[in-house]
Amino acid sequence: MNVPAPAPASAPTLGKDLLGLQYLSAAQILHILDTAEPFKEVSERPIKKVPALRGKTIVNLFFEPSTRTRISFEFAEKRLSADTVNVASTGSSVTKGENLVDTARNLEAMRIDMVVIRHGASGAAQFLGERIRSNVINAGDGKHEHPTQALLDLLTLRDHFGRIERVKVAICGDILHSRVARSNIWGLTKLGAEVAVCGPASLMPSRVEELGVTILPRIEDAIAWADVLNIMRLQLERMHSGYIPSLREYNRVFGVTSERLSRAPKDILIMHPGPMNRGVEIDSDVADGPHSVILPQVTNGVAVRMAVLYLLAGGSQVSAAAQPEDQA
Ligand code: CP
Repeated sequence: MNVPAPAPASAPTLGKDLLGLQYLSAAQILHILDTAEPFKEVSERPIKKVPALRGKTIVNLFFEPSTRTRISFEFAEKRLSADTVNVASTGSSVTKGENLVDTARNLEAMRIDMVVIRHGASGAAQFLGERIRSNVINAGDGKHEHPTQALLDLLTLRDHFGRIERVKVAICGDILHSRVARSNIWGLTKLGAEVAVCGPASLMPSRVEELGVTILPRIEDAIAWADVLNIMRLQLERMHSGYIPSLREYNRVFGVTSERLSRAPKDILIMHPGPMNRGVEIDSDVADGPHSVILPQVTNGVAVRMAVLYLLAGGSQVSAAAQPEDQA
């Protein structure tokens, strides 16, 4: 029989909701990453299921398109044995004018425990979390934060370097519209990484240096400096005016190409949260090249989301949570 190890007395709790890395301490972020470690192995088993969230009901409320985050949350929930329901705005009563809180309150009337929400409005997750009893997890809100993406990025970095402190990470591309960039900046700076941002001035938030990052104006500067490039997509759907002359011009000036990387003083780890615009911010031979960890990022996403769901549900005995059903 496996005897569960007690959680360290100092293990920090996360509170009711996960809204962003801005609101977490370094200790809380590290606790999520450490909790994700034993969950990685669950996804490698023939039977990818543990009973940790048996009896919990989770609603995935996706009001914006998603492939990776939505499916990753659903896998995480199913692998923890939770009951899950997926709601998209199309096909729901949102199309008839129902507002977010009414939708969520009606779901709560059916006795749910958690809501995972992706929404086009910055602050939507906090707005919901303040109005319903269920735990709320932000799966991306407008241009604000995408905390589980940053957590999986941090886990992937730690896998590669064995640490996050002092790793030089350049976040490149459309920083202005990127919730992934914002969450990464909060998480990386809290954990002691050196962080730079690189992209066109038109796609750089004003006063971004106040978040503790350096601005590198040229992609060549980022490549010369960084251990890691985390490449953000051009969010064309959020651009309502001419931020760049053309996609071709953007690739010519800011594209991460193997030719540019060949001039780097060292091998650079390549990350991208997806979805990628191949041939725009990143060329295919870089995305699919030997230094890319883009697919390991996706794999880590399931473990990180299992950890977040487990901790928000009040879990603490991580080694027990990762035990198969017959040993738990
Ligand atoms: N990285 C990310 O959020 O991808 P999706 O939009 O496919 O969920």
